[in-house]
Amino acid sequence: MEKMVILTGAGISAESGLGTFRDEDGLWARHRIEDVATPEGFARNPELVHAFYNARRVQAATARPNAAHEALARLQRDWPGDVVIVTQNVDSLHEAAGSQRVIHMHGTLAGALCAECDHRWQAQPEMQSGQPCPVCQATAGRPDVVWFGEMPYFMDEIFDHLESADLFAAIGTSGQVYPAAGFVQEARRAGAATVEINLAPSDGASAFDQVLTGPATRAVPAWVDRLLTKGR
Ligand code: APR
Repeated sequence: MEKMVILTGAGISAESGLGTFRDEDGLWARHRIEDVATPEGFARNPELVHAFYNARRVQAATARPNAAHEALARLQRDWPGDVVIVTQNVDSLHEAAGSQRVIHMHGTLAGALCAECDHRWQAQPEMQSGQPCPVCQATAGRPDVVWFGEMPYFMDEIFDHLESADLFAAIGTSGQVYPAAGFVQEARRAGAATVEINLAPSDGASAFDQVLTGPATRAVPAWVDRLLTKGR
């Protein structure tokens, strides 16, 4: 049966109250990427970076999954084929909605990583700089999220999924950041049908066979209903 690969971005969590990056009031309108989302920024001022992620971690902890997350969990449950979610988001709202197969290519706010020995552990709500690694004791604890200039996680697995996809959907992403922005081309090369679901057509919308616009909490449940009743 048809295999689906669904890429999600910040737009799917917007109606759960979590900010996007490039919308008017987005995170990158209020913070400089080079200060809070690069290894160099962390080396320069770890306190600033921890404060940025602590605020997002505390906010994400009280956020609830919305109808779009729930619709994708229903699709994973009821679709007779494989449905893999690849998310750029570092919140855990797909899992909170009941999704099982979620690949976090940019890591998660819930994770902490030792920059010295690569040990990973469950981050406290508020990470402090200079926190010793539970294994090697180096004071090199950092958020386990992928910063600009770093390689996203699980790329081999993601490309394997794209190569065997029959349907690729991109939901709530501006398609500005590679490699995720190039996934639609990989899927097309594999012969997959492609659909973008977004508040408004993204700059990369022309690469998709179909573009559905509207808030994710409306457009995604409608799309899932159609898939589950009409099969496509
Ligand atoms: N419903 C659907 N789409 C929405 C909604 C909504 N309610 N609100 C916003 N959007 C759309 C916007 O129109 C935009 O196209 O979601 C998209 C959000 O784009 P970005 O803010 O660029 O977020 P994203 O695409 O996830 O960014 C990708 O960039 O900064 C890095 O690591 C960061 O993972 C992030 C990556």
